[in-house]
Amino acid sequence: MNEQPRHNRLEELMPESSPKFAIDLTTALPPAPHIIHRALEEAFRQMCRADTTTMDIRHNRPGGAREDVECGSRWLRGRFEQELDPERIVVTNGTQSALNLLFGTMEPGATLFTESITYAVLKQLATRAGLKPIGVPVDQEGIIPEALEEGCLGRTGQRVLFCNPTVHNPTTAVMGGARRVHLAETCRRLGISIIEDDVLGFLHPDAPPPIAAFAPDITWYCMSVSKCFAMGLRFAYLLAPSADRARELVAPVQRLSWWFPNALSSLTINHWIRTGLAQQIIDAVRADIRERHAIASEILTATEYVTKPGSLHVWMPLPDRVERHALVNAAKLCGILIRPADVFAVSDSRVPNAVRVSLTAPPTTNDLTVGLSILDKLLGWEIQKAKESPFNDPTLGLSLLDKLLDGRSRRPRETRSKPLR
Ligand SMILES: Cc1ncc(COP(=O)(O)O)c(C=O)c1O
Repeated sequence: MNEQPRHNRLEELMPESSPKFAIDLTTALPPAPHIIHRALEEAFRQMCRADTTTMDIRHNRPGGAREDVECGSRWLRGRFEQELDPERIVVTNGTQSALNLLFGTMEPGATLFTESITYAVLKQLATRAGLKPIGVPVDQEGIIPEALEEGCLGRTGQRVLFCNPTVHNPTTAVMGGARRVHLAETCRRLGISIIEDDVLGFLHPDAPPPIAAFAPDITWYCMSVSKCFAMGLRFAYLLAPSADRARELVAPVQRLSWWFPNALSSLTINHWIRTGLAQQIIDAVRADIRERHAIASEILTATEYVTKPGSLHVWMPLPDRVERHALVNAAKLCGILIRPADVFAVSDSRVPNAVRVSLTAPPTTNDLTVGLSILDKLLGWEIQKAKESPFNDPTLGLSLLDKLLDGRSRRPRETRSKPLR
């Protein structure tokens, strides 16, 4: 049940120089507790029994059907602790589509402020939409409102802020309640609309209420199921400032199907919400994540790292003389894939010397244990080497690999030419 899908096999993603095995610690996708299989079985059985399902999948659901937004309103009460008008909800096939919809309404060349390191695809989405992404300095609570204000100086035209205040990707920063209020007040004063990405909102046990709960007039709020249920469901709720704004967003794109939610995912998630299975899945995902955090805290001792309960990864600022690319490359040679901070940087300057290590990508805790153990050993070596010599030794990864493989030979992978496209 836990096998990797064929299209996502690690060896296909691995560089030619890598050894035959690899443990992927790059993607922060949720674990797959057994309850998901049972919940799918139950939802599909119910769908097969209902005589409406054939008709349901016959049609598209631009922005979600009535029952989708009603279930969404019920589900989001878990974060907002207040009734939400279902008419304010637009259902999409994920956060990226929600962002694309919103970016499509912005003026060409408009400024999109965001955390200086942020969700890895944000820069690409913004630039493709003709926007100018600008990184705002962050601290341990995320965006610094005064830095946002400073970033506005001399900047004319439309300005929007994207932020990820609850277990920020990648730093895991959680913005406290007071900072959220301060940020919303700053944005209101400066005429800046907010796009709030709350994708970890149900996983972090102490998540403060979203900014959209107390500043709904200036905030578009997005909650995808990609982190708390499963990424392949392709489903997210976008909560607009008002029902009218939701309608205005959907009206020009209601015949363009690229962003529509899939009917089977919608029916499945509606069933889970109505029956309470959704909450049981969250509880199981949280428990699995807790177990993986415990493994990490036992194994990762070579250097300090940052994380939060519910986070799918750890953020590891590196000691000064351990260079992130050298570590990433040495780890790759040892069959461990991790992400350097550069992947998340909005600008190429002042990228922190840090790496992100996923705890949930390995399908089993055994794979995680092996992956983290190798990484920690490698880090220990790098730190020791940095202490002993000011120069970097590029052969380190290779010699360690030989040790780890116990002297077994490493055959180079066959190389194939790329076909013409
Ligand atoms: C910050 C952030 N938001 C949202 C998502 C989920 O995106 P989607 O809903 O398009 O799968 C991710 C997934 O990597 C993410 O890192």
